[in-house]
Amino acid sequence: MAEEQRHREDGGGVATAKETLSVTDNRTGESYEVEVDDGTVRAMAFRQMKVSDDDFGLMAYDPAFTNTASCRSSVCFIDGEAGVLEYRGYPIEQLCEQSNYLEVAYLLIYGELPTRDQLDEWVFEITHHTYVHENIKKFVEGFRYDAHPMGMLLATVGALSTFYPAANRIDDPEERHMAGVRMIAKVPTLAAFAYRHNLGLPYVYPDNDLSYPGNFLSMMFKMTEVKYQPDPRLERALDVLWILHADHEQNCSTNAVRGVGSSRVDPYSAVAAGVAALYGPLHGGANEAVLRMLDRIESADNIPAFLEGVKKKDEKLMGFGHRVYKNYDPRARIIKKHVDEVFEVTGRNPKLDIAVELEKRALDDDYFVERKLYPNVDFYSGLIYEALGLPTDMFTVMFAIPRTSGWIAQWLEMVQDTETKIARPRQIYTGERERDFQPIEEREQRVDPPTGEAATSTIDPTKR
Ligand code: CMC
Repeated sequence: MAEEQRHREDGGGVATAKETLSVTDNRTGESYEVEVDDGTVRAMAFRQMKVSDDDFGLMAYDPAFTNTASCRSSVCFIDGEAGVLEYRGYPIEQLCEQSNYLEVAYLLIYGELPTRDQLDEWVFEITHHTYVHENIKKFVEGFRYDAHPMGMLLATVGALSTFYPAANRIDDPEERHMAGVRMIAKVPTLAAFAYRHNLGLPYVYPDNDLSYPGNFLSMMFKMTEVKYQPDPRLERALDVLWILHADHEQNCSTNAVRGVGSSRVDPYSAVAAGVAALYGPLHGGANEAVLRMLDRIESADNIPAFLEGVKKKDEKLMGFGHRVYKNYDPRARIIKKHVDEVFEVTGRNPKLDIAVELEKRALDDDYFVERKLYPNVDFYSGLIYEALGLPTDMFTVMFAIPRTSGWIAQWLEMVQDTETKIARPRQIYTGERERDFQPIEEREQRVDPPTGEAATSTIDPTKR
């Protein structure tokens, strides 16, 4: 692009292409010129292409948004081919090396690294909003002892909107800021309460003397000691994991936050939608699946047979492959470095040896090389969570805690974008039309609940 620009500016000998697309509608023979902007065409540009005056016009069909940009964003950049991830232009490797989660949360939300004073104030604000209303505690107590912690987190984040009703003033910058501070501060508290509820243990209140990850470890694991002292190596590993999970552009849960938020609902409700999306096994649940897979493999001797099964497509190598990364997921590379540090504290988990050998063999195998399948962020993160003593149900919650800052950054961008309208896709209607309502006595059974499939028994096929 820069090269092309230079040619244009210095009148370079090479003619540059017009930034338009010519489209001929073969149904009518009409030709149209559609503008190309930032490598995209506006789907609405196709609406003018009609076969008759009363035709609605062409629409784009893209059920999983696999080739549709839904917004302009300056929060997170990914180059999947090159294995690059940047937050606000800063490489993830530098952020993990030199920053911490709260500073990164500030960067994501406000777009720039904070000055010393700004960071101190930000950390102070977050630290002083970690407590939740006592009624939330009672609310958590209402869940069954074995309630999934993600289900509890989803409900309690949504419930926060009832404690802060002014948050629905989303045009007020102060309210927006406070909602962000409150969510980043309180989500770890809600997560830890959910965990303690599952164990039947008393809740541990936040400790303002500790760091953000240190306080979380205290709320999770403090028992009878007067003061919980987190191991600095575990604190750091958690901080790095949370930097890595803070944002990942327009993934399923971020899209959910933006989609729900576009109705101009309060941000707590919008973020609750993100938690719900992350709860799904195709999104936040893969790290759990990696551990189950390593358990099944049991020993390094069984790896060749396991990989043969993967190549025959009997199963998947969990923690490998990514829709966007066609190279080593940069997050996996960073996590791998921290696994050893964590095991120094917690003792080595034999599953790590299986994982390392599995990765080595897969990366030496043509099946994975040809398909550009590399370890993703989830290949090693579950091992760290297990080493920290977390049950697998908590793994997705550990993802939701840091992703909260990404959701808020994306929500803030969305509500301030003048192009934002309520998200409202179109459909291709495939159902019946203009049927006359039948009195109940005259109806025949047409479907078989619960599948909803057409009933085969008594129906006259001409009446379907
Ligand atoms: N194991 C074995 N084969 C695989 C795997 C895998 N993990 N992933 C992809 N393939 C094969 C797939 O079968 C296909 O083969 P073929 O060309 O012979 O049909 C080829 O590679 C291309 O895969 P795809 O299904 O078109 O890729 P996708 O972009 O639709 O899927 C994915 C991406 C992440 C869902 C998939 O790689 C996968 O299921 N991986 C395992 C689950 C996992 O680790 N998920 C965590 C993603 S990272 C967390 C996040 O960022 O949200």
